[in-house]
Amino acid sequence: MFVTVLLLLVTLCVQGGNGEERAEAQRPGHVSVVIVGGTGDLAKKYLWQGFFELYENQVSSGNTFSFYGGGLSPADAGKPVLFEILKAVACSKDASQERCALLKEQLLRLAQYRQLKTLEDYQDLAKHIEQELQQEGITEAGRLFYLSVPAFAYADIADKINNSCRPNSGAWLRVVLEKPFGHDFRSAQLLASQLGSSLKDEEMYRIDHYLGKQVVANILPFRVENNKFLDPIWNKHHIERVEIVMKETLDVKGRIPFYDQYGVIRDVLQNHLTEVMTLLTMRLPMNRSSSEEVLQNKLQIFSSLLPIGKNQAVVGQYQAYKTSVQQEMNKTKDHVSLTPTFAAVLAHIDEARYEGVPILLISGKMLDERVGYARILFKNDVFCLQNHNSVHCKPKQIVFYFGHGSLKYPAILVSKNLFRPVLMGGEWKEVTEHTDVNILGLPISDYYVQTPTEQREAYSELISHIFAGRKNSFISAENLLASWGLWTPLLSSLASSFPRIYPGGADNGDMLDVRVKGKDIVYSSDVVIISPDQMGGTSANGFQVMQGKFRSGDMVSAWAEELVERLAADIQEAAEAAVHEGGVFHLALSGGSTPIALFHRLVLHHFSFPWRNTHVWMVDERCVPLTELESNFHSMHEHLLQHVRIPYYNIHPMPVQLNQRLCVEEDAGALLYEKEVSKLVNGSSFHFVLLGVGHDSHTASLFPGSKVAELGESLVAITESPVKPHQRMSLTFSAINRARTVALLVMGKGKHELITQLSRVKDNPDKWPVTGVKPADGRLVWYIDYDALLG
Ligand code: BG6
Repeated sequence: MFVTVLLLLVTLCVQGGNGEERAEAQRPGHVSVVIVGGTGDLAKKYLWQGFFELYENQVSSGNTFSFYGGGLSPADAGKPVLFEILKAVACSKDASQERCALLKEQLLRLAQYRQLKTLEDYQDLAKHIEQELQQEGITEAGRLFYLSVPAFAYADIADKINNSCRPNSGAWLRVVLEKPFGHDFRSAQLLASQLGSSLKDEEMYRIDHYLGKQVVANILPFRVENNKFLDPIWNKHHIERVEIVMKETLDVKGRIPFYDQYGVIRDVLQNHLTEVMTLLTMRLPMNRSSSEEVLQNKLQIFSSLLPIGKNQAVVGQYQAYKTSVQQEMNKTKDHVSLTPTFAAVLAHIDEARYEGVPILLISGKMLDERVGYARILFKNDVFCLQNHNSVHCKPKQIVFYFGHGSLKYPAILVSKNLFRPVLMGGEWKEVTEHTDVNILGLPISDYYVQTPTEQREAYSELISHIFAGRKNSFISAENLLASWGLWTPLLSSLASSFPRIYPGGADNGDMLDVRVKGKDIVYSSDVVIISPDQMGGTSANGFQVMQGKFRSGDMVSAWAEELVERLAADIQEAAEAAVHEGGVFHLALSGGSTPIALFHRLVLHHFSFPWRNTHVWMVDERCVPLTELESNFHSMHEHLLQHVRIPYYNIHPMPVQLNQRLCVEEDAGALLYEKEVSKLVNGSSFHFVLLGVGHDSHTASLFPGSKVAELGESLVAITESPVKPHQRMSLTFSAINRARTVALLVMGKGKHELITQLSRVKDNPDKWPVTGVKPADGRLVWYIDYDALLG
């Protein structure tokens, strides 16, 4: 039946195998579009309209289409709903009435509802597509599945598609997914690996509808086209700050069971605002249409972003939220939700170009207006003595205005005291007739304004990109994981934070105004924050740091965050004392995940740390190249060293790789390290050694049964771990026990059992290696958080 609307195919861009988005002839043929969840809200509001526009645009280029709306209901219930939706789609402005009627009639003929629940349903669908192809005798171009269903259903549907709905060879398969893609790094990773077992990465199109907004899609092209103006000023010397803002007036009534699990950071900061931030700050690609190069440049930004901790965020919750949660989730009156509906976050990029430039990401529900924009505010180096209204005295800024707000249309605005920008290619026009409106502190007439000639819905735009295989407009797995990697630590550290309660709308007044204070962000007004008692919960922060004894050492105990604060302060104190005494501080650090919080603390809060006089040594290392994620040095570099101003020659990674091989006895790497320690560290006595302890009680890379005695007096040894990678290089007890201070950091409920055992056992380093840590002339301090101590 669909040949009735077969027309000539021309061309489109398709995704090339090498990540290059190049214009090439797409194989002519038939395209089956399946919207799973085809009668749901999103489909009703945007997707069918988007596919209809695709059809309208493609009909004269020759592809044929069939459309399937899939749902869980049986056909007699689903069919009428689908057809009501389809009848409501609108034609483009230029289509004549007759053409519009014809196209809509064709859509109704080409579309059908299908129940898609079981594997058999998917098999039947595949059979149906095959039969139609055969009957009509046309080749298949591809199959497009749009999964507009809750994310928990993705893996199962992807599996069914893989098992039964793959197209004929030569035709493409594209599966479109909507966020949420997980709720943190691990769940996103799990979802990625589940989907990866059914679909190839190039077959997956993860949507972030912000990338389909016309202004957002043009950030990178704008930067490229205007590079000759921007390059000299796109840096810390000229940029005062960057603001990426999405304000909404609506509440989240009706979506609470979803939203309460999620909150504003997961809902929009992790995706929409982060994407905008990367587009604004990434290095310009040599080839804008190379999806691989664009991705690599984006990933580079993620790796340069300083960790975002609790002090780089403030959160809020609109007042009525609590009642909605109680109602929609059947909770009692004393139920308290800490889910933020407002967040302002401060990010910094640790690259020479952007060093110290504050990047604010802000979004909230129930605010005074609906508007989205990204503003680059430049420093103004002109001092105006008299005429403050003259153009060069005014703010210099570029505003990427996504839409709504007082302007009401999407636009790119450049203040006239900066430069006259190049007009974006094709479908953009300059606006010169202005209504009397003020945009972010400037009357509109003070800007050069450009806007798309025709406003297009983000979903329609992205649907046409899926069809064209333009991967740049979608979120790759690596991009997604990098973003969760950035946000997950913040989300964990905010888990028990009480949001500031705000009334909503204009009444918020200045309650949600924020101030950048060094590397931190704070609310600028002192509204009393609702206390835990008022919220009906108990605060973990009620406890103070506790001092005591553990085994033969001193013990400091507190909740994780305070413990880390205290340890960081103690290290700084030791560093200052050592530098004061001898001009140098020798610090030996261990790897693993526990010290990462400490590294972040040192990076973000210890600006006066004497890094210039500090030598950083390794307690142990895995026998893998230093560039690998498993390498302790790699993680120390990522989380600490690259963010502080320490001279290169003060950094001492362990030489696990010599002569292009790893930890080979005859290369004598351990001896080499030992010599370096002896040469630089007075008496081979480190000022401060930071250790952790594993579940089997290993410390550094000294494992149970390591035969400590056999290591003799050597300071560094190759050891064997029971888990991969087996070979390690480690400081020995001889080296550790010479230190002035040894800190043992133990955190998390998972270590409670171990701590209980260790509180009882006698010293036996062969069985309990950590019991061999006994500094001869130094001090041993256990830093144990309440979770590990109390379980
Ligand atoms: C969605 C969020 O991704 O973006 C919503 O889930 C939010 O909570 C919406 O309202 C905002 O999109 P837009 O296009 O209206 O700015």
